[in-house]
Amino acid sequence: MKDKLEKLKKEILDYLKDVKDNDVLREFEIKYLSRKGKLAEVLKGLKNLDASERKEIGQLANEVKKEIQNKFQEVKNIVSGEGGQDKIIDVTLPGKKIKKGSISPLTIVQNELEDLFTSMGFMVLDGPELESDYYNFEAVNIPKNHPARDMQDTFYIDKKNKDDEYDLVMRTHTSSVQVRAMQKYGAPLRCVVPGRVFRCEAIDASHEHTFDQMEGLMVGENISLDNLIAVMKELLKGIFHKEMEVRVRPGYFPFVEPGIELDIKCTLCEGKGCPACKNSGWLELFPAGLVHPKVLEYGGIDSKKYSGFAFGLGLTRLVMMKYGINDIRAFNNGDLRFLKQF
Ligand code: PHE
Repeated sequence: MKDKLEKLKKEILDYLKDVKDNDVLREFEIKYLSRKGKLAEVLKGLKNLDASERKEIGQLANEVKKEIQNKFQEVKNIVSGEGGQDKIIDVTLPGKKIKKGSISPLTIVQNELEDLFTSMGFMVLDGPELESDYYNFEAVNIPKNHPARDMQDTFYIDKKNKDDEYDLVMRTHTSSVQVRAMQKYGAPLRCVVPGRVFRCEAIDASHEHTFDQMEGLMVGENISLDNLIAVMKELLKGIFHKEMEVRVRPGYFPFVEPGIELDIKCTLCEGKGCPACKNSGWLELFPAGLVHPKVLEYGGIDSKKYSGFAFGLGLTRLVMMKYGINDIRAFNNGDLRFLKQF
């Protein structure tokens, strides 16, 4: 019996030395360690021994069994790749590629602008995209039936707001937050409002139903066009990293008086004239103006004491100019190849 055990132990340990994969290991387990395996077979013989022998041989059998089980576990760990220092690592295999997301160019530029404006003491505010007709139009001096409503057709929602007085619309501009901000914070006030806006447009390379703007608003005593232009120039320096040549033209928006359009010298042809600037040498960058007294009053601000400026930066357009993106549809069409470039 003793010899049988020793022989079996040797046989098993030899066998285990050569095991390199799971299939062979499984075969081994069935052949030697299962209920009907060779080890069980030998151990069955124990019951035929007399008491004194049984004690001695039983102890030996236990030791052999333990040793075999330990070795078996060790080999199993190595084969399944979990063994401590004996773990088999093929260092020549190529590594797994780590998939990294990227930041939308809109977010990149928005973050830059937020940093710039907060450094000049502006707050960054938010407002609802589904807005009441009141804040989007009425409160910025575009009453019902005013022809200026035609400039910004949008999507009207088939539900009124909670006091049932005004329709809900997808906001057409971030100017909708002007009066909200005045009502909440009063004067003096400095804020920018980045966000998505919506228009009912025929879509092509330069028109989208959804795009991004950034509104700027400053209210205080004696705020003038000079202040507006100074802030605009600072902004342009922040965006283009150099002094930009600008031109100011009159522009009409019901919520500013006077209203202006700020143009920059074309970044592509430097003012000589090219297709990008329709041969004018100038690129329309953003509209702005001094806040109309009526809008200040809607915001609960005394228009005799305070004045202010506002501008409406086309964030999407700015990003297109900065990165040379020639089709606005790239922003919303969900093609990851576009986003992966940034
Ligand atoms: N809200 C205007 C638009 O979207 C832009 C604008 C903002 C003009 C502020 C003047 C002042 O067209």
